[in-house]
Amino acid sequence: MSQLKNDRYLRALQCLPVDYTPIWMMRQAGRYLPEYRQLRAKANDFMTMCQTPELACEVTLQPLRRFDLDAAIIFSDILTIPDAMGLGLYFEVGEGPKFAKSISQLSDIEKLPIPDPQLSLGYVMDAIRLTKKELNGKVPLIGFSGSPWTLATYMIEGGSSKSFTKIKKMLYSHPEALHLLLEKLATSVALYLNAQIEAGAQSIMIFDTWGGVLSHQSYQTFSLNYMQLILSNLKRGNKTQNVTSYVPVTFFTKGGGLWLDSIINTGCDAIGVDWTVNLSDIRQKGKVAVQGNLDPSILYADRQTIESNVDAVLKEYGTNNGHIFNLGHGIHQDTPVEHVQYLIEAVHQRSKRFHHD
Ligand code: CP3
Repeated sequence: MSQLKNDRYLRALQCLPVDYTPIWMMRQAGRYLPEYRQLRAKANDFMTMCQTPELACEVTLQPLRRFDLDAAIIFSDILTIPDAMGLGLYFEVGEGPKFAKSISQLSDIEKLPIPDPQLSLGYVMDAIRLTKKELNGKVPLIGFSGSPWTLATYMIEGGSSKSFTKIKKMLYSHPEALHLLLEKLATSVALYLNAQIEAGAQSIMIFDTWGGVLSHQSYQTFSLNYMQLILSNLKRGNKTQNVTSYVPVTFFTKGGGLWLDSIINTGCDAIGVDWTVNLSDIRQKGKVAVQGNLDPSILYADRQTIESNVDAVLKEYGTNNGHIFNLGHGIHQDTPVEHVQYLIEAVHQRSKRFHHD
C-alpha cells in the first residue's frame, strides 16, 4: 500500500498539529464541474455512474485534478442502501431521487432484507479499491453513508420531502414500526461502512441531512441513538500506531446546532456543522474535531468576499488543533468553478498563521 503523502485531513480529525487547515467540500464531485456534466451527458445516468467503478473513480478524481483538496470522497450516494434493500432507486430529471417501491407500514418494514454489502453493494467497494489505487496516496479517501433517520425519510416519503408528514405520522402514531426500520438501517449501515473500511476508506462520514427537522425530544431517540449504535459497531482501529491506523468518524447533522453536546457525547471523532453554528462555541466543548462551516452561497460572491468570509471562519476557530475546513452543506450546482479555486487557496494561505507546526 502506498504511503499517504498528505495526511493533514487525518491529522486534523485526530486533533493533531498541522501546518495549515485542510479543506474538502461536501459534494465536491458533481454538477458544478463541466467535466462531470460532460461525462453524465454521455448517456450515463446517475446510478450507472455510481455502479461502474471506473466511472465512479473518474468522477471522484475530477475535483482533485483541478483543486488542491486535502481529501477525496468516494462518488456514490446515500440512497444505495435502500436501493440494495429492493426499493428500486431512480432519478427523474430535475426531481431528485425516487423509489419504485414505497414503504408505508410495519408489514413492509418486516419484509426488508439486511443487504450483504459484498453482494448487493459490491460496486461501492470495487470503486473504493480502484480509487485508492489511482490516488496512489495523494490524499485520504472518505467513505460515507446516510444516517438511519435520513435514509428512512427518503424510504417512507418515497423521495425528497419538504414537510416530512408521512414519516412524522409514523413516528407519532406507529413508533414501533419506525424503530424497526431504523434498527434494520443501523445494522445495514454498520455492515456497509465496515466493508468500506475494509476496502480502503480512511475516514467515515455519516450524513444526517434531515436530523434537524426532528423535535428536540425526538432527535436523540430517532436519529442520534441509531448513529451511536452504528459507531459502536464500526472497526475504527487504534490510534497508537500511526495516523493511518485509525479510521475517524464524522457525524454531520444539518440543523443540529442546538444538540452539539449530545452529538459530541456519542464518541464520534469529529462533528460536521452548518453555518448556523459558532465555531468558537463548539471548540470549547471538548476534544472533538470540527468540520465546517462556510455558507455555500458565499461562493456566489466575489473573491474578496470569499476571502473575508474564510478569514472569519478561521478566526472563529482560532489556533486550536482539529479544524477541517468545509462548507456547511453541499456545494450548489451553479457555483462558478473559479470561485472554488479562490476558496481553497484562501484556506491554505490564510490558515498558516493559526498553526505553529
Ligand atoms: O460529496 C461528494 O462529492 C460525493 C458524492 C455524493 C453524492 N451524494 C453525489 C450525488 C454524496 C456524499 C451524496 C450524499 C447524499 N445524497 C446526501 C447527503 C448529503 C447532503 O447533501 O445532505 C443526500 C441527502 C443524497 C440524496 C440525493 N442524491 C439527492 C437529494 C440528490 C440530488 C437530486 C438533484 O437532482 O439535485 C442526489 C443525486 C446526486 N448525488 C447527485 C450527485 C452528484 C446529482 C446527480 C446528477 O444528476 O448528476
